[in-house]
Parts: sequence; C-alpha cells; structure tokens
Amino acid sequence: MADLKDKVVVITGASEGIGRALALEMAPLGCHLVLCARNQERLQSLVAEIHAQGGVATAFAMDITDRLSCTDLVTLCEVELGRLDILIHNAGITMWSRFDQLADLEVMEKLIRVNYLAPVQLTKLALPALKTARGQIVVVSSLAGLTGVPERSGYCASKHAVTGFFDSLRIELAAHGVAITQIYPDFVLSEIHKRALDARGNPLGHSPMQQDKLMTAQQCAHLMVPAILARRRDLLTSTRGRLGKWLKMLWPAMLDWVAMKAITQRK
Ligand SMILES: NC(=O)c1ccc[n+]([C@@H]2O[C@H](COP(=O)([O-])OP(=O)(O)OC[C@H]3O[C@@H](n4cnc5c(N)ncnc54)[C@H](OP(=O)(O)O)[C@@H]3O)[C@@H](O)[C@H]2O)c1
Repeated sequence: MADLKDKVVVITGASEGIGRALALEMAPLGCHLVLCARNQERLQSLVAEIHAQGGVATAFAMDITDRLSCTDLVTLCEVELGRLDILIHNAGITMWSRFDQLADLEVMEKLIRVNYLAPVQLTKLALPALKTARGQIVVVSSLAGLTGVPERSGYCASKHAVTGFFDSLRIELAAHGVAITQIYPDFVLSEIHKRALDARGNPLGHSPMQQDKLMTAQQCAHLMVPAILARRRDLLTSTRGRLGKWLKMLWPAMLDWVAMKAITQRK
C-alpha cells in the first residue's frame, strides 16, 4: 500500500460529486490535495472543510479544457509544492439523447474535449513530474468506457477513448514506475445527471435517474481509495459491472439488453 504522507495529489472535478467525496476521503491520509474545477466558491468551501479537519488542500480554479491553465496547474505542483505524485482525472460531463435526435455534432465534440482530450493534455504536461515521482495516474472512467449504453453514445465514445488511451499509456510507463489505475463506476448519485447535455446541448436540469437506487459519491470514493493506494490496474465498483465484463466476452447481446434495461429503468 502506498503511503500518501506529504505526497501531492491533484484531483480534477473536485467541486462536486465523486471528486469532492474523494477529496474528503483522501484528506485524512496526510497528502497535500490540489483541488481543481471551474467553480472557485465551491472549491474554497471544500478547502475550508478539509482544513477544519486538519487536512492540507489548495484550490485551483480552472477549466480543464484550457491548456494554459493546465500548464499553470503543473507549475504550481512542481515549483511551489515541489512535486506531483498522483494525478486524478475525474472531471467529466455526460449527455442524454439518442444519436438520431442530436441537432448537430456539438455535444459529441464537447464530450470528447472535456472527457478525453483534456485529460490527455494534462497528462502530457504532468508526465515529467510524474516520472520523477514514480507516481500514479488515476482515471475516473465509467462502465460506459467498457460497453455501449443507449442515450449516451458520445459519452461512451469519450470514455472508450479514455480506456484505450490510458491502457496503452500504462504499458509505455511501466518502465518509468508510473502506475495507472482506471476506475469504472456504475451509476453514482451526483450532479452529472442533471447537467447531462440534451439533444440541443443544453443541461437537462433534472435527473432522469431513480436517485434513491444509485450508489452515493461517498460510497464510490470509499471503494476507490484502497484501489488507489494499492496502485491497482482497475476497479469496477458494482457487481453488475463485474458480471458485465464477462458477459461482454461470453454473450455480448445479453449485455446490450442489460444496458438498455439500465437506461429504461433509470438505475
Ligand atoms: N455519476 C455517475 O453516475 C458516474 C458514473 C460513472 C462515471 N462517472 C464519472 O465520474 C466523474 C465525476 O462525475 P460526477 O458524477 O461526480 O459528476 P459531477 O457531480 O457533475 O461533478 C463533475 C465535476 O467535474 C467538474 N467539471 C466539469 N467540467 C469541467 C471543466 N470543463 N473544467 C473543470 N472541471 C470541470 C465539475 O466542476 P465545475 O462545474 O465547478 O467545473 C465537477 O466538479 C466523471 O468523469 C464521470 O464521467 C460518473
């Protein structure tokens, strides 16, 4: 198990949901958390909560798609904090629309920019520091990064891209001692469902999911931390996800049916 004492850990998408819960779960482990998202106010309030509990955290307001901000983030870690040990790519957005109902490709492009190109760019900038630290990259992907899901084609595409990219990078970085852990959560109760982009690229404004049937962000973060500390290759957070992995190989049409049912039943 890795010891996080005095390590510098960056979490993107830390203002809400899984990222926020993960920050609160990791703060007692003695690391210096660098918390990123666009909403400065939410980040500051999270930092205050962590400080009140004796943890160490810095807020860094940024849009993950902005290259200059990514450069500044890495500079903060390398120059001011002296190192970067763990980079957690968590920021993400989703969609809720059939492909044939999309007005144009704007939604697809936005999903690829935020969910795929942004983590790739930040990884590129952070790589020298991560190699020096023999550190770790953690990627919050999704079960949608492993199989198709209706109403989510652009989200699935972006998460499949993430899975393929970081699985490849893991092999390239093995000799440098940099581990890559991919997390594949099932549905989690968070803001992402309300913010899902509709066919015209606007946020839905309400969650189409059965909220009371979903794992909480805290439960998800609680499962993630041991996998991160053990530098595990991957983690699927639900039994449905773990069974689905086998079903994909043995009976893929049945997995399509399970995915359709998950969306129609909204859980
Ligand atoms: N919830 C689920 O059911 C579920 C299931 C599987 C996987 N996941 C994955 O888990 C990750 C976290 O999702 P969540 O459910 O916790 O969603 P969430 O509650 O909506 O939180 C998303 C976070 O990402 C940040 N973010 C979004 N766009 C950003 C941008 N352009 N630049 C910087 N930060 C940005 C948001 O902060 P600001 O708005 O302040 O920027 C927020 O902190 C995502 O990658 C998602 O795909 C979620």
